[in-house]
Amino acid sequence: MDFIGRHILSVDQFDRVGIERLFEVADRMAPYAHRGRITRVLEGAILGNMFFEPSTRTRVSFGCAFNLLGGEVRETTELKSSSLSKGESLYDTARVLSGYSDIIVMRHPEAGSVAEFATASRVPVINGGDGPNEHPSQALLDLYTIKKELAGRGRGIDGLRIAVVGDLKFGRAVHSLLKLLALFEDVSINLAAPPGLDAPPDILATLTQAGHTVSLHDQLNTGIHHVDIVYVTRTQEERFPTQEDADRYRGLFRLNQSVYTENCEPNTVIMHPLPRDSRAQANELDADLDQNPNLAIFRQTDNGVLIRMALFALILDVADEVDDHARPVTWYTAKRIPSVRRR
Ligand code: NCD
Repeated sequence: MDFIGRHILSVDQFDRVGIERLFEVADRMAPYAHRGRITRVLEGAILGNMFFEPSTRTRVSFGCAFNLLGGEVRETTELKSSSLSKGESLYDTARVLSGYSDIIVMRHPEAGSVAEFATASRVPVINGGDGPNEHPSQALLDLYTIKKELAGRGRGIDGLRIAVVGDLKFGRAVHSLLKLLALFEDVSINLAAPPGLDAPPDILATLTQAGHTVSLHDQLNTGIHHVDIVYVTRTQEERFPTQEDADRYRGLFRLNQSVYTENCEPNTVIMHPLPRDSRAQANELDADLDQNPNLAIFRQTDNGVLIRMALFALILDVADEVDDHARPVTWYTAKRIPSVRRR
């Protein structure tokens, strides 16, 4: 797969060679993300970071990733502060904003909106989440995390046993992740969702066509037996027609330490794209798991910077020049990253 100058709209664009290339570049971004070195390889480049839906880690990590490569970030958040709220079309907005930027990341509440925006953009566009449809960069960082978590156990993504639990109907991060898993061999997938929040049929078909073993569960406890990874998701309340509809699902699936101990194998890795809904009525991933060494949620968020740096470097064709522009970091970093030696 070719990255240079391409939009990243869906994980459907990826093949295994492309994923390996992305992961190899992501590995090489670690010294920069961990503040061992700085690079200015994207000096002068501008990222248009357009987030028309709530976001913390995706927006900030895309911005940080671009800054860490030496580029500048211009950000627009909220529909109401953009001219889309004055009736401007996605087409016009894309023509305008792509005149100001070298690359754009966009999140928008409607499925297909980012692809529509990209047709009018004169620069590459990365989908930062289009409604309930897809969230490719999240799935890529999740897959990268799965690979790293399992590497220490001598396991790879081929042969993976994973449980994906929660809102599988509206969760765009799991839609993208499940589609990516179809590229691998012999994956066994437990899908555990409350009735009514099941994964879309086309995604199930993709997994079975790939030859994977898929088993469906309507209870959390039975869905998380005999797996390497439990991937928990939040009920996507903002996608339900009414708050009442969403409330019916609140707190149905809750993973905590005792549910984990009772049902999971001892070293099962726990993942979640975040944010977790920590309100008492929801609490799908309890804070009593925070000391569990298998909780990988903050390793996922750290990996997000590496994957997003790698996407920018590959799309803007500087992946092999990053180190040519490097120099050591001179500010205090020892406390943040213990492996970076105090000067
Ligand atoms: C996810 C999203 O926005 O789809 N969050 C994220 O980007 N890390 C998951 C969610 O909001 O539940």
